[in-house]
Order: sequence, then C-alpha cells, then structure tokens
Amino acid sequence: MKVFITRVIPEAGLKLLRDSGLTVTEWKEKRSLTQSELIENCLEHDALLSVSTKIDADFLNACKHLKVIALNSVGYDNVDVDEATKLNIPIGNTPGVLSKATADTAFLLMLATSRKAFYLHKTIAKGEWGFFEPTTNLGIELTGKTLGVFGLGNIGVEMAKKCIGAYDMKVIYHNRNRNEEAEKTLGAQLVSFEELLAQSDVLSVHTALTADTKDTFNLDVFKKMKPNAIFVNTARGGIHVEEDLKTALKEGIIWGAGLDVTQPEPMASNNELLDMPNVSVLPHIGSATVETRNAMAELAARNIIAGLKGEKLPYPVNPEIYS
Ligand code: DGY
Repeated sequence: MKVFITRVIPEAGLKLLRDSGLTVTEWKEKRSLTQSELIENCLEHDALLSVSTKIDADFLNACKHLKVIALNSVGYDNVDVDEATKLNIPIGNTPGVLSKATADTAFLLMLATSRKAFYLHKTIAKGEWGFFEPTTNLGIELTGKTLGVFGLGNIGVEMAKKCIGAYDMKVIYHNRNRNEEAEKTLGAQLVSFEELLAQSDVLSVHTALTADTKDTFNLDVFKKMKPNAIFVNTARGGIHVEEDLKTALKEGIIWGAGLDVTQPEPMASNNELLDMPNVSVLPHIGSATVETRNAMAELAARNIIAGLKGEKLPYPVNPEIYS
C-alpha cells in the first residue's frame, strides 16, 4: 500500500509508516501542490497524509479511492469533512499532543505584548536605544488580571493553567458547551460573550475556525473590550478581521495584540502590524517544537496505518462513518 505526503514530515512519523510495510512518497518541493498535482499524485496512492493542504469536494470526488486522509494538524478547517463523510472517507487529526506547545505560544505572545518586547528588541538594531527616562518603554503587568478564554478546550485549559500559575489570573471563558472539569480544577467561570469582552484583560482565542466563529472579532466586538485589553490569537487568522484589529489598535480601543495566526498566511512583510509597538506576530509556530511535531507526525502515521487496515482511526474527525 502506498501513502502520499504533501510536505516533508519528521522521521518519527515516516518510520512508523515504513515499519508497517507502507511505501511512502513525500512532496519535497518548497511550494504547495496545485490541485491537479495533488489529484495526479493521490490517484497513484492509497492514502494521503496531508500537511496544510486544502481538501475540497472536487478533490475528494476525484480521489474517492483513498482509504484514509490523515491530517498533520488538529485543525481541519481546510477540509470539506461533510463531503468526505458522504464519500465514506475517514479523516484523522492530531488532537491533544500540541496543546502545551500551542498554549506556550499564546502565553509567550501575551507576555511579549504586555512588555512590547518584539518592538523594543527591534529598536536596538535600529540604534534607538537612547536616553533612559522612567516614563518610556512602559508595558503593563499581568498579575491578578483576568484571562478570558474564547473556546476552553485542551489548548485553552493549558493556557489558563499557565496564567494562573504565573500570574494568579482569574479565568473566565465562553464556550458553546460548559467545561465542568475546568470549572472544578481551575475555578474557571462560564460567562456570556458580552461579559467575556467586558471583563477580559487578556482575551485569548482557542476555538476552531468554523462558519460560526469566522470574523467573530470585528470592530464592533473590539469596541466592547477594555481599553487595556490584549487580544491573543493562536487558533486561526480567520477568527479576527485584520483591518478592524488594526483600527482598534491605532485608535486605542484595545491595548495590544499577539498573533500566531494571520489571514492570509504568510503575512506580507510590509504589514503595518509588524511595526506597531504593542503588537507581537509569529509565523504560525504554535506546535513548532521538536517533541510536538514528532508526536503529531506519529499520530498522523497511526491514523494512516489504521485506515489502511480498514480499522477505525484512533483520532477520527468524522467518526460517524463508522456507525
Ligand atoms: C493545528 O494543528 O491545527 C495547528 O494550527 C498547526 O497547524
């Protein structure tokens, strides 16, 4: 059986696939495959391990023969899961293993933004580390502040734990479903969306990008946040409206923003967000640690191996195909 992989992945995942007797082809060019190249390659393979590749209805109908599609991500907003389910193609993802690394990135962005760290670092290289005055380069402190989590799942819980441990922050959250475990263990308090906006000193987004969450953070919403609030998004760039975020920052409607995700990605090098003092931007590195990327590649490989054996995927996105 043959597996096509759309980008180079860590050896940990490749080894599992090869040790299971599978033949593996990796797309090694440093550019995304076109849709026709993707179809052409998949027609010669039995399974697809997809890294950051759009899987739409046209592709799925052209490649109905695929026995499994394993994503090398927890997010599956770039996949037409309904169409895959109709065609009985199991889709797998990589939940859990990237929660701590992604929460580290959210925490890093929160702290860096609160002290203008990325901006001030750049001033040294520009020769602007000048005369010291007690009133310049001032950030804001996080101790005792309120963390608002939009989407308190695995990653949001890890972020909340760090904020409580480091800064004794109060945690509020807004979810479709109550997270009773987090309420018990972290003292997290479920609030309405309006309350989340009004009370958060740091508002961190940890929800999936769906039709319901797309463009949630627009100018009207930023206007309901505190003027000292820091907005952090490590989930998906499509959840905030970038032009509205720029306006909110320029007009002092909110204090700062930390982004690991943008819309589009990559962000253009002349984007004005990159020059704003209270903004920290990273190039979607949430899960980018050696340990986490190895673990993600291993989960993706395990989904492929199970799918090719005709077994239920260990981490299915569309488990309904088994019922
Ligand atoms: C995910 O797994 O969804 C992360 O954003 C990495 O792409």
